[in-house]
Amino acid sequence: MQENDRSEEGFTVTPWEVEGNIDYQKLIEDFGTDSLDDELLERIEEVVGETHFMLRRSIFYSHRDFDWILDNYEEGQKFALYTGRGPSGHTHVGHLMPWIFAKWMQDQFGVDLYFQLTDDEKFLFNFDSTLDDTHSYALENAKDIIALGFDPEKTHIFIDTDFIHELYPLALKVGKRLNFSNVKAVFGFDNSTNVGSIFYTAIQSAPCFLPSELEGEKVPVLIPCGIDQDPHFRLTRDVAETIGYLKPALLHNKLAPSLDGTGKMSASQPKTTIFTTDKPEDVDEKINEAFTGGRISASEQREKGGDPDICSVQNYRYYIFESDDEKVEDIADRCRAGDILCGPCKQLLKDNINKFLSKHQRKREKAEDRFNEFLVKDCEENFK
Ligand code: TRP
Repeated sequence: MQENDRSEEGFTVTPWEVEGNIDYQKLIEDFGTDSLDDELLERIEEVVGETHFMLRRSIFYSHRDFDWILDNYEEGQKFALYTGRGPSGHTHVGHLMPWIFAKWMQDQFGVDLYFQLTDDEKFLFNFDSTLDDTHSYALENAKDIIALGFDPEKTHIFIDTDFIHELYPLALKVGKRLNFSNVKAVFGFDNSTNVGSIFYTAIQSAPCFLPSELEGEKVPVLIPCGIDQDPHFRLTRDVAETIGYLKPALLHNKLAPSLDGTGKMSASQPKTTIFTTDKPEDVDEKINEAFTGGRISASEQREKGGDPDICSVQNYRYYIFESDDEKVEDIADRCRAGDILCGPCKQLLKDNINKFLSKHQRKREKAEDRFNEFLVKDCEENFK
């Protein structure tokens, strides 16, 4: 049976479907992960000397073996970061969340990052897409990754179909150990599932072992990713040691909420999702339409106050666009007290997003010229 069956839980979280009001605590129990507790948060701060708002706010909230990564790091053993993106369309700002965090991790720990763009996955799982579509979106998405300012010396971005020669031997080792009944149970596949999809977890597992292959010794790998990706890596972890590698560790983030106040931000709902390619007027329009915690009328809101806890504008601020905790709290307090109405509150967010996007888009336009610094392909002699 598919995990988190909607009828039972009221929400669904799988790598291909995220719906409903997600109970993140329940996911920790269902998936069998550990919560990122205060002790661990303090440890990170001790080790690197600062913290990140996504940790403080429990946006990254769950993990597997992150304590082991820190133990090793403190003993002088470096780890590698690995994350990825399924290029089903343009990047939206929700996607940037874990990437911004991955960059912070790279800067703090000075480690290599492997970034997988799974054009194969999106081709296999989205019936109508062609390989040309998913490959060109992969290149578009790569521009966003580069624009975030990752260190070119330490960042290796690859598109699966351009890098399969490196990945395939590793995917085969995983594929040989995964059996259909496990994959079926974890993902809810049935007899109509195409066989490419059934093999796919092996491809997403391969980069977990790539650093060890490249270094010629066992390298611990830490994967910052949305909690929806955990099922893949649970399978990877089950086979890792039997094929001679270390189990990858994980740090899970909650999924960025959508502007309509339900579910997560999704590229298939363009009106309630902000893309990195959006113009200021698009952003303004989408934020104007956003679901808020406001009251029916201005006078009622002044009198009774709004509810920032259910407000998607406040959520956007909290998840991505305001790193200053005091500012976030201050706006929430003013909202509850009826001292700020939705119009000016939305304007603050629009200003933040548009400021961010105008800088991001400038860097994004130049990113194409920098592909050779970041993108690795099969059999490249100069693989960094
Ligand atoms: N399957 C992921 C997606 O659909 C893409 C991905 C590949 C990924 N490797 C990953 C995500 C590692 C996080 C970590 O977006």
